[in-house]
Amino acid sequence: MIIAIDGPAAAGKGTLARRIAETFGFHHLDTGLTYRATAKALLDAGLPLDDEAVAEGMALRVDLAGLDRTVLSRHEIGEAASKIAVMPAVRRALVEAQRRFAEKTPGTVLDGRDIGTVVCPGAPVKLYVTASAEVRARRRYEEIVEAGGSADYDAIFEDVKRRDERDMGRTDSPLKPAEDAYLLDTSEMSIEAAFQTAKSIIDAALSRNA
Ligand code: DC
Repeated sequence: MIIAIDGPAAAGKGTLARRIAETFGFHHLDTGLTYRATAKALLDAGLPLDDEAVAEGMALRVDLAGLDRTVLSRHEIGEAASKIAVMPAVRRALVEAQRRFAEKTPGTVLDGRDIGTVVCPGAPVKLYVTASAEVRARRRYEEIVEAGGSADYDAIFEDVKRRDERDMGRTDSPLKPAEDAYLLDTSEMSIEAAFQTAKSIIDAALSRNA
């Protein structure tokens, strides 16, 4: 059983994916971390972010078992990741590793931008989780403030819009819902309500497979 979850930055897909994985006892992969780990390896080695062959070499060496979300969530790593995520050779290397992960038993949850369209087009459950840019920026802002940090809403809002443009505008595997994806707009829906909807979709798919 493969559950593919896609959507723009800060739509709540990570929270939803972790909760689904925990509930069903499935393995979870946040595929954004694979792009981030590649970017971090380049930054750490002092290598350029605009050389596709060099970046591909790093992507081929990413260890999916060693992805540290806390370290990789840094803003500058996200910026670097979005630059190398446009490179077809990098995407090919990481998609290959993601597909191998997706085969784990008893099931997997992968979240990202192109899971339902490119990585696992045959996944029996595809969710496209979205929310308006304003709502996503507001959630990110509140997350930072609640964690005791300081944040600037307008700067976050601009950042969310810039990342949407990059994710949706690239030629290789742009962010878009798969034709058979279930659309979950969380603008006016709590993550809890989104989870309950997702759970009933997955329960139905599991009983079809049984
Ligand atoms: O979701 P995130 O911020 O961790 O993603 C980091 C970068 O990787 C972001 O620019 C989008 C890109 N990405 C991608 O192109 N395809 C994926 N499946 C996941 C992330």
